[in-house]
Amino acid sequence: MRSMELARAAYKAVSSCARLKPGENVLVLADSIVDRYLVDAFANAAYALGGETQVMVFGTRPEINREPPKAVAAAMAASDLVLDLITQYIIHTYTYRKVREGGTRILCGTGITEDMVIRMVGGVDYNVLVERGQRLRALFAAAGELRVHTGDDAVLTMSLAGRPPILRDGLLDGPGDLDYLPGAQLSMAPVEETINGEIVVDGSAYPPVGLLDAPLRLTFEKGRMVKVQGSGQAALWKGWLEHFDDPKMLCLAHISVGLNPAARLCGNILEDERIAGCFVIGMGSQMEYFQGTVGKASSHSDVVAVRPDIYLDGETIVTDGMFGGKVA
Ligand SMILES: [Fe+2]
Repeated sequence: MRSMELARAAYKAVSSCARLKPGENVLVLADSIVDRYLVDAFANAAYALGGETQVMVFGTRPEINREPPKAVAAAMAASDLVLDLITQYIIHTYTYRKVREGGTRILCGTGITEDMVIRMVGGVDYNVLVERGQRLRALFAAAGELRVHTGDDAVLTMSLAGRPPILRDGLLDGPGDLDYLPGAQLSMAPVEETINGEIVVDGSAYPPVGLLDAPLRLTFEKGRMVKVQGSGQAALWKGWLEHFDDPKMLCLAHISVGLNPAARLCGNILEDERIAGCFVIGMGSQMEYFQGTVGKASSHSDVVAVRPDIYLDGETIVTDGMFGGKVA
């Protein structure tokens, strides 16, 4: 354990990212699978910063997005700030939405590890990351069409017109805000019926797979995934989406572009989907702030392509997984 590096990075996360002010009621929340020293590092930082600090740990659930225990939900609602370290994340639950509507702000670090806190928070200049994210947001806001090339010949196109780009820069701005630790990501819900073509996913797919041992080739027609090709993991992933018996699990809910220069492909989706220049597709449940037409579904899964070429209205944004053009 690198306790001093962890202490410094956790302090940066709680002060600069969560923006804890002295006297605020802060809840450090985890499920039982999370290492307690990681929970302690955040609690110690919150306490050192003058927060009215509480810690709650509950038994790990078998699946993501199960409503948390009632006492946990009540504690979240009663807090100004939740530092959420839960592994089996609850991001798409009723509780999450309700406590945010009540003014609780949440810094969500689901799946985060000691190494990630030190490397992707402590070791990254957030000013640079946020500035690039803002440039990317402006470009996405002005764009009509997004085109992404992957593999040798796969092309996926979609219209972004009229939909808001959501920059999760990793910083909490005020009551009810939600952001993620570590940052950052730019996400958007494309206009569903305009999403057509193919994408080769060469990074990871979670849940339930994680790191892919061979690429998946996905085919979309009018926002719905109609074909999945690949090795045994393709069948595993497709089977997981279909076992909910929910047509919305086959709908594209959002696309994202990662922004963290310290992120590396490792099979942990929290890190993988933040790789600078990666392209992410989220399937299933769609947060309401995307203003899309998919809405809540039974669950959610993200897939990551790590070496895409991305174009906005024909202009290069990313080449072979590296930022170029106006976001270089
Ligand atoms: Fe997602």
